[in-house]
Amino acid sequence: AQLPDIAYSTGLQFSSQLQGASTGTRWLAARGRHDNRSPVDGRLIAQVAWATSADYEQVIQTAVQAFAYWRDLPAPRRGEIVRQIGMQFRKHKAPLAAMVAYEMGKPMEEALGEVQEMIDMADYAVGLARQIHGRTMHSERPLHRMYEQYHPLGVVGIVSAFNFPVAVWSWNSFIAWVCGNVCVWKPSEKTPLTAVACQQLVAEVLAAADCPEGISNLLLGDANIGVRLAEDVRIPLVSATGSVRMGQDVAQRVAKRLGRALLELGGNNALIISDKAPLDLAIHAAVFGAIGTSGQRCTTTRRLLVQRNLMNEVQERVLRAYESIRIGTPLDAAHHMGPLIDEAAANAYIAALARAKQEGAKVWVEGGTLNNAPSAAYVRPAVYQMPPSAPLLQQETFAPLLFVVPFDTLDEAIRIQNDVPQGLSSALMTQDLSEAETFLSHKGSDCGIANVNIGTSGAEIGGAFGGEKHTGGGREAGSDAWKNYMRRQTNTINFGHSLPLAQGIRFTL
Ligand code: UN1
Repeated sequence: AQLPDIAYSTGLQFSSQLQGASTGTRWLAARGRHDNRSPVDGRLIAQVAWATSADYEQVIQTAVQAFAYWRDLPAPRRGEIVRQIGMQFRKHKAPLAAMVAYEMGKPMEEALGEVQEMIDMADYAVGLARQIHGRTMHSERPLHRMYEQYHPLGVVGIVSAFNFPVAVWSWNSFIAWVCGNVCVWKPSEKTPLTAVACQQLVAEVLAAADCPEGISNLLLGDANIGVRLAEDVRIPLVSATGSVRMGQDVAQRVAKRLGRALLELGGNNALIISDKAPLDLAIHAAVFGAIGTSGQRCTTTRRLLVQRNLMNEVQERVLRAYESIRIGTPLDAAHHMGPLIDEAAANAYIAALARAKQEGAKVWVEGGTLNNAPSAAYVRPAVYQMPPSAPLLQQETFAPLLFVVPFDTLDEAIRIQNDVPQGLSSALMTQDLSEAETFLSHKGSDCGIANVNIGTSGAEIGGAFGGEKHTGGGREAGSDAWKNYMRRQTNTINFGHSLPLAQGIRFTL
C-alpha cells in the first residue's frame, strides 16, 4: 500500500507537503523540508515543514486565548465534544490504523488496537466529564463548610513518542480537554503524518461545534520544540513520553520554573515464570510481550526470569514459538512482526546483540537483520540467556531482544526484577495464591504496573498507567490520573456571624 491509497481511503485531505503547525483547521507557515520515510518499504511518504519560532509563538498565543473560551463551557458540554471526537475516530478507525501501520511499522492488528485505545479513551473521558468530583469535609469551626474543587490548568503541552504515535496523545488530550484545558501537541518527528491526521480529524469536530481555533494545536519539529514547551511559563503542565534522558531534561527545565511535568519514560519489564505457572499461557504472554510492536513498547517484556527447574522446558517452548513468528510488511495481517522504526534502530539492535555476546550471552534465538526485507528496518527477534550481573540487563534496548535469567526462589526473582533503574511494568506467572500475593505486596514488584498471569504489555485504559524510579512517576489514562490535569482548590465558607479561628486561636481587638 502506498500513502496516497491510505490517504484517499481515509477521506482525509493530504498533500505530501505537510505544514508544521496548526491551531485547528488552519495551518501556519513553517519552514524546511524534512523527509518522512515509511519503515515498511523505505518510501518517501511526505516532506514535512517544521514549525518556526514565529509559528510556536502564534500557536501558544492562540491556545492561551482559546483557553478562555473552552474553560467556560460546562464540563459535560466539553465531554459531548469529546464524544463526537470518539465517533470521528470510530468512523476513521481502519484507515487511520493503516496509516499508523504504514508510518510507524507496527502490525495492522496492533495498529487497530491502538486506534481502539483512543476510542476507549474518548468514552472514558466522556463519562469523566460528569464525574470531576471533589470532596467535602466537616469544618472544625461552627457554621462553616469546607470542600475542594478542581479547576482546569490552562495550556497543556504534550510530547509523544513514535511507538504509540496516536494513542498516548489521546490519553493526555482527551482527559485534558474534558478537564477544561487546551492542548499543544508535539509528536515524534518520526511520525508526523498520523499526528496531522489526528489534528485534522479533531479540528473538523471542533469547527463543527463552533469552537474557536486553539483548542487542539499541533507543532511538528525536533527536540527544540519540546525544550520551548518545557521552559514556557504559559504552559502549566508538560506531559512527556519517551526516553529517560529526554524526561530528565524536560523535568529539570519544567522544575526550574516550578511547572508540572507528567512523565512516562523507559521500562525494563520482567516477566517471571514460576514453576507453578500455567506454562502455555506464560510462553504466549512472554512472546507477545517481547516481540509485539517489534519490542518498541515501553511495556515490552525485556527480561524473562525462569525458575531453574523449568529452564529446559521453557527453552524448548520458546524456540518453538519463535520459529513460528512471521516477519514482514505490517499491512499483511499474516505477519506478527513488522520493521523497527528505522534503519538506525535496526543498527542499534544489531550492536546490542554484539554487546550481549561480549557480556556472556548464551544464545537461544540468534536474531539479526532480515534478509531480502522490503527496507533496512526489518530484523529477526533474539532471545539470549544472560549472566545476572550483565550490565546490559540494566538498560532498555528498544528492540525485540529478550534476555533470560534463571532463578531459584521467588524472593530471588523479585530481587532481580526490581534491581534495575526503571520501574514501569512487571508480571508473575503462577497459580499459587501465596506467590501471587507476595508479588503484589509491598515486598513484591516495585513497578507502577504489576500483573499476575498477564503479560507486561497491553494495559487497559481504565487503570492509571505509569511507573516508578526512572520511569518518571507519572500516571496517565484512567483511574484518578485526571487530577494531574487540574488544579485543586480548597474552599472554606463561613455562613455564621462571627469569626472563629482554626486551631482555637483567640484574637480580640
Ligand atoms: C507505551 O509503550 O508508551 O500497555 C504505551 C501497553 C499499551 C500502551 C503502551 N496499552 O502496552
